Amino acid sequence: MNYSIALLRGDGIGPEIVDSAVRVLEKVGEKFGHNFSFTPYLIGGAAIDATGAPLPQETVDGCKNSDSVLLGSVGGPKWDNLPGDKRPEKALLGIRSALGLFTNLRPAKLYPALAEACPLKESVAENGFDIMIVRELTGGIYFGDRGYREGKYGKEAYDTECYSRMEIERIARVAFETARKRSKKVASVDKANVLETSRLWRKVMHEIAEEYPDVELRDVLVDNAAMQLVRNPAQFDVIVTSNMFGDILSDEASQITGSIGMLPSASLNETTVGMYEPIHGSAPDIAGKGIANPIATILSAAMMLRYSFSLSEEADCIEKAVDSVLNDGLRTSDIAAIGAPSLSTDEMTDAVIARL
Ligand code: IPM
Ligand code: MN
Repeated sequence: MNYSIALLRGDGIGPEIVDSAVRVLEKVGEKFGHNFSFTPYLIGGAAIDATGAPLPQETVDGCKNSDSVLLGSVGGPKWDNLPGDKRPEKALLGIRSALGLFTNLRPAKLYPALAEACPLKESVAENGFDIMIVRELTGGIYFGDRGYREGKYGKEAYDTECYSRMEIERIARVAFETARKRSKKVASVDKANVLETSRLWRKVMHEIAEEYPDVELRDVLVDNAAMQLVRNPAQFDVIVTSNMFGDILSDEASQITGSIGMLPSASLNETTVGMYEPIHGSAPDIAGKGIANPIATILSAAMMLRYSFSLSEEADCIEKAVDSVLNDGLRTSDIAAIGAPSLSTDEMTDAVIARL
């Protein structure tokens, strides 16, 4: 089969880690007889420098016309002082919105081989955990009305959180369907003791839950969820939450896996054209040094094979190769013990490819 993949390398370590994932995909293609073709498009700071805009129309069209999109990361200090709608991050929101990617799947699991990198107490880490965060990605405060206005204390800035019933229903269904394939438990995270959007969120979650009597639903307030994640992460299976809560909790979840450099994500709509990216950022401090951990992006490529192309055997093959690399004690610097030797981005990529 032929698959066309749009590459959004972006900024910082983005280009390095995307190239690692491309090398892995090429090897998978060779092994299983698929042809992956890659077309690069500009996004983020790189696009600002080249065209003046963070998300050129050509990039949007290119992504829409591809079978799938692989993204590195966007942003960096160079563009930090631009106004909000000209920042590299705006491109990320723009492409999510343009492709209608309302579902963001962020798996966070503790690899037994990395238990030592987990900052939690040994008695907690030894239980392991395997959580799937289902983050709503095209609504909420990220996309609500914002600006400046005259307030009680003079000029004030404001952002607004909005959720419609439809937006909550469709992400609820994704969460329940996901839970059906896992351990049939959903924790819906909200702030229903304060926010009206959360009260609607909670109500709709329970209505949709009736269609899934085999799945257990529980509500968790976001402050409590943040606490429970470090106290006893093994209690969670699927977590479904709003755009901003999902952003925050997924970073927290990644940190307890030992490194943010390990976590992939899939952003999906109703079609099979998805966008796949590591959840970490552009890490400008290590960009260009060749030491970034490529695993999150390599695992994102595996998610692409699974979710966009239904190539589950091929996806398993990548995930097993990553397991094996970790079990063999190979580490990039972010997951290496202090003072222990570590591999470069290319060496880690080669190690994964050798195990495919
Ligand atoms: C993420 C990032 C983005 C987000 C930023 C860069 C806009 O933090 O993908 O988690 O907040 O969604
Ligand atoms: Mn984030």
